[in-house]
Amino acid sequence: MTTQVPPPQRRKFLFTMIGGLGALLAAASAWPVFRFLSPVAARGGGEQVAIPRSEVVSGKAHFFEYRGKPAVALQPDPGKFIALSAVCTHLGCVVAWKEQAGEFQCPCHGGRFSAEGQVLGGPPPKPLEPLAVVLDGDQLKIG
Ligand code: FES
Repeated sequence: MTTQVPPPQRRKFLFTMIGGLGALLAAASAWPVFRFLSPVAARGGGEQVAIPRSEVVSGKAHFFEYRGKPAVALQPDPGKFIALSAVCTHLGCVVAWKEQAGEFQCPCHGGRFSAEGQVLGGPPPKPLEPLAVVLDGDQLKIG
């Protein structure tokens, strides 16, 4: 003996399931848009980054992530530490450190920045964004 569900109940069940699945798909596709549009600080990205002082070697660049974006720490002179956003101010490519030249170069359109982030050439309209650095024992606290 089989139990048959009357057609109106079956239809209601199907509509409920299809509606639930549609809502789930809509939420899943809206989530990336929401994440993209929400401010970085709202995503918990406002915290400081601690980097061991020993990892920032004089003359070399130490790249890290700060608030979800590439950043770089340098020690241009012994004991002097700076940190910058590594995002080019032209169209947002990530700059590379050229140790021989002692400058940052952007691979996209040839932008050039000094070790302190000042524009040396190319299309970037402004310097690399500086980040606050505090030396705390053997740690650099950035941000
Ligand atoms: S994005 Fe860096 S020079 Fe264009």
